[in-house]
Amino acid sequence: MQKDYGNMSQNIDELKRQAAERAVEQVESGMVVGLGHGSTAIHAVRRIAVLIQNGTLKNILGVPCSQQIETEAHNLHIPLTTLDEHPVVDLTIDGADEVDPHLEIIKGGGGALLREKLVAQASKREIIVVDESKLSAALCTRFALPIEVIPFGWTTHLAFLEALGGQPKLRMGADGSRFKTDQGNYILDCKFPPLASADALAELADQIKARTGIVEHGFFIGIASEVIVAGADRIRNIRR
Ligand code: A5P
Repeated sequence: MQKDYGNMSQNIDELKRQAAERAVEQVESGMVVGLGHGSTAIHAVRRIAVLIQNGTLKNILGVPCSQQIETEAHNLHIPLTTLDEHPVVDLTIDGADEVDPHLEIIKGGGGALLREKLVAQASKREIIVVDESKLSAALCTRFALPIEVIPFGWTTHLAFLEALGGQPKLRMGADGSRFKTDQGNYILDCKFPPLASADALAELADQIKARTGIVEHGFFIGIASEVIVAGADRIRNIRR
């Protein structure tokens, strides 16, 4: 999904960096740390690498949420592990596409939602880092919900999602071919009307999740333990 902040992009990136670096203050030596995917979480990965290199953080093991972050972290000399070797992650720092006032979020703009949710599920704490443009009064106001589907029979989900009130669109890659996740699946970006209540959110999430062929959706409900929001004036830590 295209994210166009126009000429504000430099400022936005600075806010992303500030939020991510604030989160890294909670990383302690000896931790297994989930390394999130995206343009905000990458700032946390870079900061962790610096702190390992200068000796501030010792015995850190990273669990990357995507192949891309695995490569980045490897190049930055962050020691890596897997969920199979370390099924419990102490702390994960990840980004988000939309955050509501109850700290429910939409993720998956970068296409890594399945691994991100697996790592989040294994984490004692999930810190979400965002700039203030990601905040909204109700999920689905500013972002279409990413839904990961297996390629076999993917078109059969279109009518199903439309019946739920959505407008699904197959995600395409920058080269014009179908976007594929790290698992080789497709993403349907599905616009829904804003979800006014927790019940409406939970019901929609359950209906989508129950469908065979749909692997995962980008609603992260009850998962964020803390959201760090960087705004022009200040950085806020909002805890659940
Ligand atoms: C990756 O699949 C996503 O969940 C990202 O965490 C999310 O899209 C936020 O990305 P940015 O930090 O690049 O906006």
